[in-house]
Amino acid sequence: MKGVIFRGLEALVIEKCGMAAWDDLLEKNAPEGRVYISAESYPDEEIVGLAQDVATALSMSMPEVLKAFGEYLFSHLKARHPAIVDSFNSFADLIISIDKVIHVEVAKLYHEPNLPEIDAQIIEDGFILMRYNSKRQLCMCAEGLIFGAAAHYGVDAKLNHAQCMHDGFDSCLIEIKYETPHG
Ligand code: HEM
Ligand code: ZN
Repeated sequence: MKGVIFRGLEALVIEKCGMAAWDDLLEKNAPEGRVYISAESYPDEEIVGLAQDVATALSMSMPEVLKAFGEYLFSHLKARHPAIVDSFNSFADLIISIDKVIHVEVAKLYHEPNLPEIDAQIIEDGFILMRYNSKRQLCMCAEGLIFGAAAHYGVDAKLNHAQCMHDGFDSCLIEIKYETPHG
């Protein structure tokens, strides 16, 4: 997992729980002296360990933490890559472009990133069907990112996780119902 994602979690923890809390989490879950550099890669287990401890500290479940983190992560990625996010005119436009445009750009900017496979299709106005597949099974993080994108466009989104890799399916199916305020 790229440092940019860890930096997002770091910013969230520092904002919610303070610097001392983050230092404690790091000490427990990372080698001594760890500093996350956005473009570098770090072991996936490290972010899982950190997220698990955040869950314990905030009395949240792991899926809840990943979802909250994903939502926060969207703003973090937007701040880091404004040109990519600004190139889409609408929520739907961005969502259907994740795999073929956004993550393609990401793959040019970062060395060997570990990206999910995402296929998103507009079924009808206000309804997108997304299929998510990744060895890392971070579908709750994907849900959070979708909510983050909806907030960015002032769109009200409702998600239904119709099937999930965590239940043994080979991919997750996320139904996205969205409504743009004022028509
Ligand atoms: C990784 C989904 C938008 C950059 C990921 C991951 C997910 C995801 C779930 C975790 C890896 C995995 O599941 O295997 C999404 C969704 C998006 C979105 C649903 C929109 C709603 C963006 C944007 C950017 C971005 C706007 C940057 C401009 C990245 C980067 C990684 C990543 C840098 C980490 C790759 C690595 O660690 O090697 N994305 N993404 N994503 N995404 Fe996205
Ligand atoms: Zn899932």
